[in-house]
Amino acid sequence: MMAMDKIRILGNQNLRLRGEIRISGAKNAVLPAIAASLLTEEKLALENIPLVKDVFTILTLVKELGADYDLNGNSLSIQVPKIQSEEASYELVRAMRASILVLGPLLARHGKAIVSLPGGCAIGPRPTDLHIHGLERLGADITLEHGYIRAEAKSLRGAEVIFEKKTVGGAENLVMAASLAKGETVLKNCALEPEVANLCELLVKMGAKIDGIGEETIRIKGVDELGGAAHEIIPDRIEAGTYLIACALTQGDIILTHTRPDHLETLIEKLRFSGVSIESINSHSLRVKGTPNLKPQDITTSSYPGFPTDMQAQFSVLMTQAEGTSIITETIFDRRFSHVNELLRLGANIEVQGDKAIVKGNTPLSGAEVIAMDLRASASLVLAGLIANGETLIFDSEHLERGYERIEEKLRSLGAHMERITD
Ligand code: EPZ
Repeated sequence: MMAMDKIRILGNQNLRLRGEIRISGAKNAVLPAIAASLLTEEKLALENIPLVKDVFTILTLVKELGADYDLNGNSLSIQVPKIQSEEASYELVRAMRASILVLGPLLARHGKAIVSLPGGCAIGPRPTDLHIHGLERLGADITLEHGYIRAEAKSLRGAEVIFEKKTVGGAENLVMAASLAKGETVLKNCALEPEVANLCELLVKMGAKIDGIGEETIRIKGVDELGGAAHEIIPDRIEAGTYLIACALTQGDIILTHTRPDHLETLIEKLRFSGVSIESINSHSLRVKGTPNLKPQDITTSSYPGFPTDMQAQFSVLMTQAEGTSIITETIFDRRFSHVNELLRLGANIEVQGDKAIVKGNTPLSGAEVIAMDLRASASLVLAGLIANGETLIFDSEHLERGYERIEEKLRSLGAHMERITD
């Protein structure tokens, strides 16, 4: 039985978070960067690695595939001299859907890949049809059987791929595969998330020929082989956004360093409209101050640069403290309201109607026992626990460390009363 970690938070309405914290590297940028190591026999030196559970999960996976690595603090040196296996097993893919990101590199480097279908998770089904369609356009022969994706390609050939909808992982898999395909690939309707651009920048350092980085149309001229590179992972915009909301909830005054305000523009605008004061100190730091009179805001999640779906649960907690009603519309995933039932236990007034959550404020929250269902839902429960009067006990809190490096330490340094309890 896996140790069921719990987090205990002693919260109250008068908590004021104050101080300075450093934002870690982005989970959603480091995972594709580690997958990219499969594309070359040479060494990658990656900096600003967040020490989060998902990083250890993908390192376990790429090690099975043939990688040697050395993780020293937040620096990772990784090399795949030879592909030793072509299979990403179910238990690893089940643990982390992003394991699908080894599909493109394995196909491009090794010509064969067997990757378990990710199945569903707490935020809904996690289809891979757009990944598969794109790789088939590049000449891969793909069959789905017994819950696995079996892909083969003697060699990949450049082609035009139009993504029916914006997919972060789909764009990342296709850019990696196309980098070693013969000829030119044109990817259209690409996701614009900064993590896609950060991967493209790494691939260019490895020798890939990519135009249109950060744009909806990306052109890749395949090369025969890719080499090693040194690269820095961009800061985690969702971690930063989560702390911005922690400060807004507690009328605090905090400084975030090693962050990228330009990756947070839509969230910052929404927080400013709510009455939160946020100022960029420089291109890598932000100062945020909360306010006692939060104004309700309607949000609709959408692909970057729209309001990030990964911030929806956290923003919903903030709106429980706003003076009025906010309508939260989730358009990316079809079941990303698992946090609502748990927030109701803390006294929130939220009603889910289809793809909308109607949040009524201003409702004082009170501590309770709650269950974390997924990474961002667990973050929203921590945020609620900070201001809920009394003790909040969050069960299954291991979800949290999938994507937040040292969150207790960072929040305690700002004045929160929070501890982890392992059975
Ligand atoms: C990435 O997931 C992120 N994960 C997610 O963050 C994030 O929520 C998501 O992008 C959207 O921004 C990583 O980068 C590791 P998608 P990904 O492909 O790539 C549908 C977190 O909390 N779709 O952009 O899996 C899909 O169902 C995680 O850090 C297809 O229909 O997301 C969804 O509705 C959660 N077919 C939409 O597209 C496909 O083949 C966007 O998914 C692929 C996706």
